[in-house]
Amino acid sequence: MKTDILIIGGGGAAAKAAIECRDKNVIIAVKGLFGKSGCTVMAEGGYNAVFNPKDSFKKHFYDTVKGGGFINNPKLVEILVKNSPKELLNLEKFGALFDRNEDGFIAQRPFGGQSFNRTCYCGDRTGHEIMRGLMEYISKFERIKILEEVMAIKLIVKDNRCYGAIFFDLKTGEVFPIFAKATILATGGAGQLYPITSNPIQKTGDGFAIAYNEGAELIDMEMVQFHPTGMVGTGILVTEAVRGEGGILYNKNKERFMTRYDKERMELSTRDVVARAIYREIQEGRGVNGGVYLDVSHLPNEIIEKKLETMLKQFLRVGIDIRKEPMIVSPTAHHFMGGLRINEKCETNIIGLFACGEVTGGVHGANRLGGNALADTQVFGAIAGKSAKEFVENHDFENISVEEDIAKILEEINGLGGCLNIYNLIDKLKKVMWGYVSIIRNEEGLKKALKEVEEIEKNITDVKVNGIIDLQKYFELKNMVVVAKLVTKSALYREESRGAHYREDFPETVEEWRGNIIVKGNKLWFERLDYDVDEYLKNL
Ligand code: FUM
Repeated sequence: MKTDILIIGGGGAAAKAAIECRDKNVIIAVKGLFGKSGCTVMAEGGYNAVFNPKDSFKKHFYDTVKGGGFINNPKLVEILVKNSPKELLNLEKFGALFDRNEDGFIAQRPFGGQSFNRTCYCGDRTGHEIMRGLMEYISKFERIKILEEVMAIKLIVKDNRCYGAIFFDLKTGEVFPIFAKATILATGGAGQLYPITSNPIQKTGDGFAIAYNEGAELIDMEMVQFHPTGMVGTGILVTEAVRGEGGILYNKNKERFMTRYDKERMELSTRDVVARAIYREIQEGRGVNGGVYLDVSHLPNEIIEKKLETMLKQFLRVGIDIRKEPMIVSPTAHHFMGGLRINEKCETNIIGLFACGEVTGGVHGANRLGGNALADTQVFGAIAGKSAKEFVENHDFENISVEEDIAKILEEINGLGGCLNIYNLIDKLKKVMWGYVSIIRNEEGLKKALKEVEEIEKNITDVKVNGIIDLQKYFELKNMVVVAKLVTKSALYREESRGAHYREDFPETVEEWRGNIIVKGNKLWFERLDYDVDEYLKNL
């Protein structure tokens, strides 16, 4: 197969990128079902955009970099805040409609770490509405082809130039290439590295791994966000909108414990702070059934029924009526702030390879604000699409052979046939990551994790595979191991605490560590950031 632009991924960023280059030949290749897999469709609470004249880009910028521990790439943040209102209005043109106030203006709710209520929403199923609009719009364009249930297992890169990717067909087991003049990675994050996650099953970090394997630079991989509120035991998201609408957290002693962690912002503190607070309450014995209470029963029924409809249904299914009784919640792996290093055009360091959405790093720094991810998908999806389109106007196909690469992959597949159970290895990896590389970290635990992950890596080819699903799991585990090592090594390297990265052996945030950790091949290094936020704000 050949196409002008290959987009790998099937969420909001991929869809938006495709729309931007719809007058070229585009293939969207997605591991699951287009629009039905990925994180966007599952996103609940909202999309941040400045609309109110009392709000401003400066405020949105400042909230984002403050929340991000001041290690965000300021140029990317500027692009995010200035373009997100425009892209929200574009979504409405595509058919995704946001809720309105009685006065007809787009309704906005409070979210954590924000100095203004700027989260636009569609009840508590915002991502679903966004995906619906994007899919409906895309269906009009014949030059956009969608290929579902195919997993990218290798990028085709020669001399630092990307020419597409090699895929594993999850329906037939075939291994095949798609050649492209430009490739956009929009594969999302890797929440599945953890046993408790809000992410769907596809999120095994494939994009991070296949790009890293070909020499891409990745940034701040230690920054993994744990959403404070997942349904206890399952990790299924309990949207921040619950707290935005007035939900209260309390422990088994009926104490509103956020008074001890962030007296000012309380439940609407940033996610890193709230997640650690809940974790501490549970660890120190003030939890209840492995979580803490989150209560909205004091809110009027019509608010819950209208604005938190999904939550109401989600809990009714397990016999809890949140109009009358509290939910029990605990942190869940949610978002990777780190990822492929991109510039303002969504270019990576590999020529012809662009990236957008959660697979990239730099926009959100050390901690992402709720509501900034959906905006990110649309703003940077548009830029990646535009850049790829410009690129293909000046670059043609080249005669690249992948025969050798495919032969190697087939040989690897045929060589599998040991006796280890792949699912046990995956569970072991997740357990290690949760145990040592999650909300609270320290040197001893991180070293132990690295050793255990390397042990899993050694055993990986000794797995027993019986059919396509096992092979998919094999390829996924390989990627998960790559990402787990990147996260752990970066977390070991950063000897401070900042945003989502909390080291109990280095609990302070240290000015010298204000910067980014970059990985490329077997090199890992630190780059200091010294832009002055106030100066930057003056010129915004
Ligand atoms: O809590 C939520 O609804 C999640 C939003 C986000 O991660 O942006």
